[in-house]
Amino acid sequence: MSNEQINSATDAFARLYGGAPDVIVRSPGRVNIAGEHTDYLGGLCLPMAIDLSLIVAAARGARAGRGVTIASSIYPELAPCEVAPVQGGAYARLGALLAVLAERLGNAGDGRVNADIAANIYIGGDLPVGAGLSSSAAFTVGVLTALDALHDWKLADDDVIAIAIEAEHRAGAPCGWMDPAAVLFGSEGCAVFLDCFNEEHSLVPIDTGAYSFVVIDSGVGRDLADGRYAALRAAMESAAAELAKLDKRIEHPRFLDFAAYMSGRERLPDWATPYLDHYYLENERVKATIKAFEYGNIPRAGALMLDAHASALENLKNGCPETDWIVENLCRDDACAGARVTGAGFGGAVIALVETARAADVCGAVVAEGSARFARAMRWTRVAPARGAELIG
Ligand code: GLA
Repeated sequence: MSNEQINSATDAFARLYGGAPDVIVRSPGRVNIAGEHTDYLGGLCLPMAIDLSLIVAAARGARAGRGVTIASSIYPELAPCEVAPVQGGAYARLGALLAVLAERLGNAGDGRVNADIAANIYIGGDLPVGAGLSSSAAFTVGVLTALDALHDWKLADDDVIAIAIEAEHRAGAPCGWMDPAAVLFGSEGCAVFLDCFNEEHSLVPIDTGAYSFVVIDSGVGRDLADGRYAALRAAMESAAAELAKLDKRIEHPRFLDFAAYMSGRERLPDWATPYLDHYYLENERVKATIKAFEYGNIPRAGALMLDAHASALENLKNGCPETDWIVENLCRDDACAGARVTGAGFGGAVIALVETARAADVCGAVVAEGSARFARAMRWTRVAPARGAELIG
C-alpha cells in the first residue's frame, strides 16, 4: 500500500467531509493457497492476507444520530450517501453490519443507528472489488476496525469476526470463517493456517524462493450473494449430514479423519461422495502444503494447488471457462509451479506460483491471449503475504 493511496483517501475524505479523518485503517484482501469450501464445515484452510488493501478513513459523525455516511472511489456511489441498518444496494453489507452492531449495542428499533455508531467514512485503496480477493471481508473488517477505534469499543478479534460473518449472512452471502480471519490475522511473510472447527489460527512462514505468487483476475466478476455459493454450501452440508446417518456419533465431519472416511465411504450415497471426497482430500492438501513450504518445496506446493483445482472442477463444479482456461494455460509453461482458482469459484481470480524472473512474460502472455479470446479485461499482479487489518493513522 503506497503512501499515495493513503494520501488520496485522506484528501478525498477532506474534500467530502471538510476535515481530516480521525482514524485510518488499512484492510487487506486475501488469497487462499489451500483448502477451499472447507471452512463452513469446520475444515482446514491456508489463506494469506495480501498487499492489496482497502483504506478506510473515518471520523465521528458530525450529525450525531443520523447514521453512517459513506463514500468511496471503488464502489458505485461516489456521492456520499447515508446508510441505515439493513439498507440494500451497493452498501448492503454496511447496512447489514450496522444492523448487527445496532443490535449488539442495544440501539435497534427506530431504523437508525444512534450517535454511538454515527461516522463519516470514505473507502479508497487498491483492492479490486468483486474479483475473488475478498473485498467484502476487507470492507466489513476494515469498517469495524475503524468504528471500534473511533468509539473505543475494544472489540475482541472473535467479536470482529463474528459480526463480520453475521453481516455477510444477512446480506445474502452465507460465508464461513476464512475470509474475515485471514483479513484480521494476516502477517507479513506468512500464510494463516486456520482450523475452522476449533476456530484456531497459527502463522506459517512462506518463502517462495525463486517463485512469486501471482493473481490473475479473470474479469468474471461475481458476488457471493448471487446464490451459487449458498447452493454449493447447502449441498456440502447435506453431504456431511449423510455421515451421521451412517453413525450418529459422526455429528461433525471433523470427527472422522481421512482414513476413517475412506473406510466408510462406500456406504454413502453416490451423490454425496464428490463433496465429501473434496472436503477430506482438501484438508489433507492443506497439511501437505504447509509441509511443502516448510521444506521450501515450491513445485510440490504448486502441484497441490493444481490437484485442488481439478478436485473443485470435478467434484464441486464451481469452475468457469475463463478461470479454467487461465489455470490450464499458465501451467503449460514450466515456469508455473501450479495454479488454482482462489475463493468461492464461479469466476473471480486464479492464484499461481510462477518463477519470478519469468512472471511478466508468462502472465502477460496469458492475460493478453485470454482477454482477447473471452473479450474480458483480465489483469495480473504479483502479491505477497501481508499484515492483517490495522490502524495506520
Ligand atoms: C468464499 C467464502 C469463504 C469460503 C470460500 C471457499 O470466499 O467467503 O468463507 O467458504 O468462499 O473456500
